[in-house]
Order: sequence, then C-alpha cells, then structure tokens
Amino acid sequence: MKKVLVTGALGQIGSELVVKLRDVYGENNVIASGRSENVTTHGLYEQVDVTDPNQIFQAVKKHNVDWVVHLAAILSAVGENKPSAAYNVNMGGLFNILEVAREEGCGVFTPSSIAAFGPDTPKVNTPQDTIQRPTTMYGVTKVAGELLCDYYYKRFGVDTRGVRFPGLISYETLPGGGTTDYAVHIYYEALKEKKFTCPLDKNTYMDMMYMPDALDAIVKLMEADPSKLIHRNAFNIASMSFCPEDIYSSIKKIIPDFTMNYDVNSVLQNIANSWPDSLDDSAARAEWGWDPKYNLDSMTKDMLDKLKIKLNL
Ligand code: NAD
Ligand code: SER
Repeated sequence: MKKVLVTGALGQIGSELVVKLRDVYGENNVIASGRSENVTTHGLYEQVDVTDPNQIFQAVKKHNVDWVVHLAAILSAVGENKPSAAYNVNMGGLFNILEVAREEGCGVFTPSSIAAFGPDTPKVNTPQDTIQRPTTMYGVTKVAGELLCDYYYKRFGVDTRGVRFPGLISYETLPGGGTTDYAVHIYYEALKEKKFTCPLDKNTYMDMMYMPDALDAIVKLMEADPSKLIHRNAFNIASMSFCPEDIYSSIKKIIPDFTMNYDVNSVLQNIANSWPDSLDDSAARAEWGWDPKYNLDSMTKDMLDKLKIKLNL
C-alpha cells in the first residue's frame, strides 16, 4: 500500500484528490500538505512550503512517505503577474521535491499542462512529442519541469510520472488563477445571475476536462505497470476541446434564459492563443489505458446539478 504526501493539497485538484486517494490507499496513508500552518481539514495534514526543502524532508520522514503527489504551483494568469514567484515555486519547489525523493527513495507524480506548448506547436491534435517553446513563465516552468522529471528518472532512477492536464473544471474548490478558469466561473454565474461576461474571445478553443476524469488519470498512471511506460512524464491526456460559444450553448440547453457577452482580457487571450486547441492522447491510451468518461454535455449536466446543491439554489 502506498504512503502518499500531497503538496498544494488545498487547491483545486488537491482538495478532491486527497479524498479520492484516501478511498484508494486508506485514510491514514495519505497526508495532505499546504503552506498554511493551521487548517481545518479532516485527516493527516502537515505544513509544507515546497520552497523549503527541510519541511518536505521532515514530512516525508515523519510519515514514511513513499510517493509524493506534487501539486503546489503558481498557475498561468497569476504567473504572468508574478513571474518571479512562479519561477521560485514551480522550479524551486519541484527541484526540492525531486531531491528529497532521490534521497528517500520516493516516487513522484507531478502534473504538467497544455501550457508546456507554445505558438510554434501544431495547434490541432497536438502530438505527444513535438515542438514546445512556450511563451509564458508558467509554460517555461512546466516544460522545464517535464525535462527535470525525465532527468531524475534516467539519472537517478526516481519513479517520476505525470500528465499534461488541460483546463480542469470542478465544483468543489475554485480554480487558482489560470487562463482556463472562465470555464468554471461560467457555471456559477449561469446559476446565480443567468448571465456571464467571458474574458476570452468566442472562438478560442482549448482542451478541457472534468475533475473526475483528471483524478482517475492520476490514480491510473500512479498504478500503471512501469514496464509499459515509454514516456513516464508529461503524457498528453484529453477528453473534450471547446470554445466559449460551445460551453455557452451547452449550458443554454439546460438554462434557456442564460446570456453571455464578451469583454476580452488581452493577457488571458494572448496566453490562450499560444496554447493548443486539442491534444492527441493516443500515447496515454496505449501505455496505461487512459479512457475518459465525460464530454461537454455530460459534464455540464453534472456541474449544474452539483452546483445547485452546493449553492443552495
Ligand atoms: P491551485 O492553484 O488550485 O492549487 C495550488 C496550491 O498550491 C494552492 O493551494 C497554493 O496555495 C499552493 N502553493 C502555492 N505555493 C506554494 C508553496 N510554496 N508551498 C506549498 N504550497 C503552495 O492549482 P491546481 O489547479 O490544484 O493545480 C495543481 C497542479 O496541477 C499544478 O502543478 C498545476 O500547474 C497543474 N495543472 C492544473 C490545471 C488546472 O486546470 N487546474 C491544469 C493543468 C495543470
Ligand atoms: N488551467 C491551467 C491554467 O490555465 C492550465 O495549466 O493555468
């Protein structure tokens, strides 16, 4: 049975992943961690600022951790406002995690992103192995992180694994400052206000995914037979690609009086324009059986059902 430390566990992915991992590995085998000292979460929790190698080391030692799921990061939109913080947390934090993993013999799962690609990348059905050259600080840290994980595997045998997540959509915890966040906020506004102002232009396509599929991907790849993994890190995974007009139409099927207008944010638009429209995920399907369950309409129905309950509507 794995003993897992999750960094950045209070964020959009971590808050749901910890619950899922506790179902899979047992309540006492999953330690949530975050920068805050005192948090009111159920279960084991440690304060771990990933820029402090000592805090990582102590948590790993104390709980006999053998896998780290490293989620602590600064996302794309915040990263463009705070490039220095993004560099320090995303690069320094990952380096510290990999060093502790090397010394203590832990495996490491850490996500990359569609942000690891750039404007020179083939935009449609983006191949697994292709030109990257991202143009955001977040993307620079993500592509460097992919290489660093490969390096620690090849050079030191650290069992590193990871996927390139698209924009993730969920109802439990709000997203932490990314370019794809509009695709979460739109559901809240559709239910609360019946109108939404979209910060991206109507034909901006990006790959997106519903959180249950993203959580399944993490567990499936962590449990995958290592002898079948050719790539190990940075697997393209995909389940749906849509633009603002598509998600608007999907919501309108359920909330007919929902309206949307546009007020394009040039920083977000430039980031989105530099990313792929859709990814080719055939390597993930072939190497570890990636098989997502949700499409845009089934996600929309579930999001609206769950949010109605959460928001008491
Ligand atoms: P998030 O912003 O919701 O959560 C990240 C957490 O990290 C936050 O709780 C934040 O407080 C914490 N954090 C920041 N600096 C820290 C530090 N120095 N030490 C410890 N914790 C720190 O992000 P998320 O959406 O949960 O993303 C998790 C990972 O998945 C990141 O690597 C992100 O790049 C990747 N990813 C996310 C998405 C998405 O759409 N959510 C898409 C692609 C990749
Ligand atoms: N959802 C993330 C972002 O927009 C993608 O990595 O930053």
